[in-house]
Amino acid sequence: MKMILVACVLWALGCGEADRSTRPEGARSDAAAGVDEPEPTGSGTANTDPPRDRTGPRPPIDSYQKVRLTEEDVEQGRYKKYMGGKAETWDRRGAFQLHLARELGLEPSHKFIDIGCGPIRGGVHLIDYLEAGNYWGFDYNEDFISAAKQIVRDQGLEAKRPTLLTVQEFDPTPLDSDFEFGLVFSVLQHTNEHNKRRFFEMIDEVFHPGAKVIITHAKWFDESYLESGVFEVTRALDSLAVLGSDETPIDWGWDPEKRDRMFPIVELTRVR
Ligand SMILES: C[S@@+](CC[C@H](N)C(=O)[O-])C[C@H]1O[C@@H](n2cnc3c(N)ncnc32)[C@H](O)[C@@H]1O
Repeated sequence: MKMILVACVLWALGCGEADRSTRPEGARSDAAAGVDEPEPTGSGTANTDPPRDRTGPRPPIDSYQKVRLTEEDVEQGRYKKYMGGKAETWDRRGAFQLHLARELGLEPSHKFIDIGCGPIRGGVHLIDYLEAGNYWGFDYNEDFISAAKQIVRDQGLEAKRPTLLTVQEFDPTPLDSDFEFGLVFSVLQHTNEHNKRRFFEMIDEVFHPGAKVIITHAKWFDESYLESGVFEVTRALDSLAVLGSDETPIDWGWDPEKRDRMFPIVELTRVR
């Protein structure tokens, strides 16, 4: 009996408790949600982190929130190590985001929002393409947003007047309500169920009728998320061939064994 009691106490103080404190009830694990990008590993200053033991316990989901970057990290571009493909494929994977959005109908005149923009890997290309004032990006990690602002200055993109914000739990309050195009590139597979629900409540608030929202890495998606009836699925891509392209994600910097992880890409349209 004593042994059972001791085991219960140890469990409550250990991994069982840690898991409950970081994952709201009903949330799926990131493994279940089909993560494709490397997990963030903590402070950007610790660039000597050993590779994570893939056989060990997975870190809690939504841990991008915990990444911290110093000014030196930003200067040295160390934020790149937190995104899949890291520095080696940064430019190609970023440019792909603009390519994809254009293929799906983005025009320079559209008021656009980059949801979970991170350190604007795709954002720099989108800011450059869009008319001044039309790019908005947000992320829940304030250091990624600080890095994004520095990148805008470094790339001489201030004249495009991008709006970059830190937003928690997909709160629509600081956002405008007339966006015409949204991109959610490799974001929601990293979030727990609570944040996914918040995301779908938010998009009902901030998009214009007729607006499109593009969600990549959407294996976890099903239409029950659209129960409000404001958005409908208008396309679900399982390859780039649907866009009349011979290209594959490999041409844009993805590894051959991970080429299909960005699919399905779901296009939602605001129908009322
Ligand atoms: C793999 S990165 C992709 C970043 C960017 N979209 C890109 O492709 O370069 C995932 C991003 O989603 C952000 N993110 C995850 N959950 C979020 C949430 N609930 N609210 C806002 N941002 C979130 C992370 O901080 C991170 O910047």
